[in-house]
Amino acid sequence: MGEKQGKRDRGRILTEAGLQKINKAIAEEYRKQGTKRSYEKIAEKSQLNINTVEKILKRTGAADRRSIQDLFEAFGVHLEEADHISAKDRELQIQQPSPLVPIGDEIRWVGRQAQIAELIQRLRGDCRVLSILGITGIGKTSLAARLIADAEIRQQLPELRYVDFYQDSPQFEVVARRLLAENPASNPQLPQDERALVEAMVAKLQSRPYLLVIDMLEEVLEADGEGGHRFREQVFAKFLERALLAESMPSRIVLTSQDRLPVLAEGRFPQRCCPVPLGGLEESEVRSLFEEWEVRVEDGEDWQHLQSMARAYEGHPLALKVIAGEIREDYRGNIRAYWHDYGNEIEEVERLRADSVERSREDKPRIDRHSFRLKDLVKKRVEKTLARLQRAYPLACLMLCMGATYRRPVERRAWLLQLADYSQEEQELAFEILQRRFFLEAEQPGDKNLYRPHNLIRRAALDLLPQIEEEVLPQ
Ligand SMILES: Nc1ncnc2c1ncn2[C@@H]1O[C@H](COP(=O)(O)OP(=O)(O)OP(=O)(O)O)[C@@H](O)[C@H]1O
Ligand SMILES: [Mg+2]
Repeated sequence: MGEKQGKRDRGRILTEAGLQKINKAIAEEYRKQGTKRSYEKIAEKSQLNINTVEKILKRTGAADRRSIQDLFEAFGVHLEEADHISAKDRELQIQQPSPLVPIGDEIRWVGRQAQIAELIQRLRGDCRVLSILGITGIGKTSLAARLIADAEIRQQLPELRYVDFYQDSPQFEVVARRLLAENPASNPQLPQDERALVEAMVAKLQSRPYLLVIDMLEEVLEADGEGGHRFREQVFAKFLERALLAESMPSRIVLTSQDRLPVLAEGRFPQRCCPVPLGGLEESEVRSLFEEWEVRVEDGEDWQHLQSMARAYEGHPLALKVIAGEIREDYRGNIRAYWHDYGNEIEEVERLRADSVERSREDKPRIDRHSFRLKDLVKKRVEKTLARLQRAYPLACLMLCMGATYRRPVERRAWLLQLADYSQEEQELAFEILQRRFFLEAEQPGDKNLYRPHNLIRRAALDLLPQIEEEVLPQ
């Protein structure tokens, strides 16, 4: 780890501002020439290796400053300090992201009312570490956002500290900095000694009622070789255990994770440490969800189809959301028409699922086996929907795949810029298609509207990127 870290320190990565600048210049250059851009052409023009060009523009790895400068100069852009950042700093950027706060009519939360009420009571009671567990896209982050937004919770725990390992570097140091910072923008000096660091953090949690939320904790776990998980950095366990064992603790910690967490404090104080496994939505909740998404159940037949979809994906909200996006946009909300074309896919999934339940009975019992299967099914669902998007709206798909290289949510104009080679109208249409089909999630930190694909969609889009670039961006 030390060596890898050392190497990374030397490299630079473009900032959002730098990326936007160079993308714009490249687009202008090729528009002038009347040709489409390609990495090969860019490499030739800047006399850089094609892999380096890709790495810089996709921001998949660090490059040396000289290469970045050559690229910028080749397109007549002056490279400024704000255009790039050391790879290490980028990882440790500690600006406080706001928790997901969906925009206006994007608030389409349904169901789980009883569960939310119960979790709030637990947090107001003895529960100090609440971990929401479940597979990707099942609704952990959104549920955590509901808890954060609850009036009683806000009143009891007014100081929110939010760590999101989707964007933040998966290191304990990030949690420490965020918690110990006086305000979100400050960058505190941390105690060198690990013990002192943990003590300082626990003291802080004891000093006032904080709500510390750590989203996507699975990013800091690794397999323990025995079917479970352990923290890559043991200090995570030490910190959580100290928070559990401390005599008084007005603060609360909410974690979300796709993987089960290691046992903390040998399972003592079970009332202080509450794992909450999250499953999919009930059929009636799925119905309300579809209605929220403007897909209405008109009659008994529609309801049957909807129930089949809910069963096939065990009420998984993200899988159902991408289906609803298609029904709403391509079938004008007509469930039966969608079923006519794709009902066989859903029935196939139902069969596969029943099969996996059967097999898991024969296997040695493992609670998560069933969910692993669901995870595969959901992944396939997302891939299929993307493939259809690619066929029907190649530019929207290109925008999504290129934009997936951003790890942070970005503004609409950064999304449009992904299609800088195309007309304004085409750009706007592509963005609208993505939004209306629920490929993008909206966030509203402060007064900005930011967009990003869900993690699951982002991964599928990144996998598709090489192929789609070849097809849509002719050499
Ligand atoms: N109860 C709900 N009502 C409406 N939408 C929901 C609900 N639960 C989840 N969703 C939607 O489903 C999608 C996935 O939810 P979310 O991002 O919370 O999943 P997650 O479990 O955090 O996934 P990951 O582990 O990949 O981070 C989001 O678009 C979210 O808005
Ligand atoms: Mg999440």
